[in-house]
Amino acid sequence: MSKVLVTGGCGYIGSHTIVDLIENGFEVISIDNLSNSSEDALLGIEKITGKKIHNYRVDLADRTRTFDIFEEHQDIKGIIHFAALKAVGESVEQPLRYFHNNLAGMINVLMAMNTFEVNNLIFSSSCSVYGNADHLPVTEETPLKEAESPYARTKQMCEQIIEDTLHRYTSLNAIMLRYFNPAGAHESALIGESPINIANNLVPVITETAIGKRESMTVFGDDYPTRDGSCIRDYIHVMDLANAHTKALTYLLEGNNKLNTEIFNIGIGEGVSVLEAVQAFEKVTGQPLNYEIGPRRPGDVIAIYANKNKTEQSLGWTPQRNIEDIMRTAWEWEQKRTGATIG
Ligand code: NAD
Ligand code: WQD
Repeated sequence: MSKVLVTGGCGYIGSHTIVDLIENGFEVISIDNLSNSSEDALLGIEKITGKKIHNYRVDLADRTRTFDIFEEHQDIKGIIHFAALKAVGESVEQPLRYFHNNLAGMINVLMAMNTFEVNNLIFSSSCSVYGNADHLPVTEETPLKEAESPYARTKQMCEQIIEDTLHRYTSLNAIMLRYFNPAGAHESALIGESPINIANNLVPVITETAIGKRESMTVFGDDYPTRDGSCIRDYIHVMDLANAHTKALTYLLEGNNKLNTEIFNIGIGEGVSVLEAVQAFEKVTGQPLNYEIGPRRPGDVIAIYANKNKTEQSLGWTPQRNIEDIMRTAWEWEQKRTGATIG
């Protein structure tokens, strides 16, 4: 059983990925400082898989404490580095906090890999590195535009830091996964998106509105040059995304990579508009959503979705779920976690 270090293992995508890793025979340890999560996610993982995951409550910006964990676990075969701050708007308000957290964590992980000879890294990048792309769908070759936020810039910078570092340390290997819009929850509704910070992403806003945590929600703009006037995104189910990590890590561990840094888009390869997402929610839940059309949200790109050909061909990964699966599982999770809060 190969041991994997997951940073940010208590967070949304990290916790779902741990489930997929365990189901594929990996042993997992986690580092998470709980700045946007709690260890409750680990209980959900245990209920689903029967495995207890140990989390080190350590800030990756603390190099000494981070190195201590590598010292203790000399048999780590790969690292999946999720830990980062991710709220786009907050990053505009607190740029230095974002640069410090996301870059210091990344640098310390790379230093530890080099020092302790851990050769394989999967990095959580984001479609936000593309900015306002000129052509759709975006491929991994699409030129990166100016970042729209300090958050997006941390992702561009981390990609460059990895490239430069691995150019020098050629025994290290990395895959950068550029996620499009992750959403949905594990089918069991035992884990899901549960941030400490206020959710701003479309799918949690929809479910929180439907359950009554919000009175209504706003669709940000219906006057874009798209098929129904609302923005278009590529929503990827979190369990499909989770499996992309397992496949990417296996690809590295089996030595199938052609270069020591490779990039893959992780999306379904189709655009869904905001209004289509709302309709999908109404269809699978059978209940109307209280929404209004509002002005455009500053900084939103009009449309973005992935070309996933390279990922499918190289990693043998194909997403299995669609927007309706996203809405159904997100809604089941919302009901479960709200029930738990009330009851
Ligand atoms: P999340 O906030 O749920 O999880 C991130 C976890 O990292 C949290 O549990 C947090 O407590 C932890 N963390 C943050 N900084 C840390 C530090 N310095 N030391 C230790 N732990 C730390 O976010 P998520 O949605 O699971 O995102 C995971 C990764 O994927 C992030 O890198 C994010 O930027 C990236 N990503 C997310 C999305 C998205 O829409 N959710 C899209 C593209 C990329
Ligand atoms: C999706 C669509 C909104 C809320 C962000 C980050 C990106 C990546 C994924 C991390 C947009 C519309 C939303 C609402 C709405 N994260 N919307 N009403 O902005 O595509 O991407 O998350 O890397 O970097 O920027 O995601 O879910 O916020 O928005 O109409 O209340 O839903 O305008 O068109 P976004 P989102």
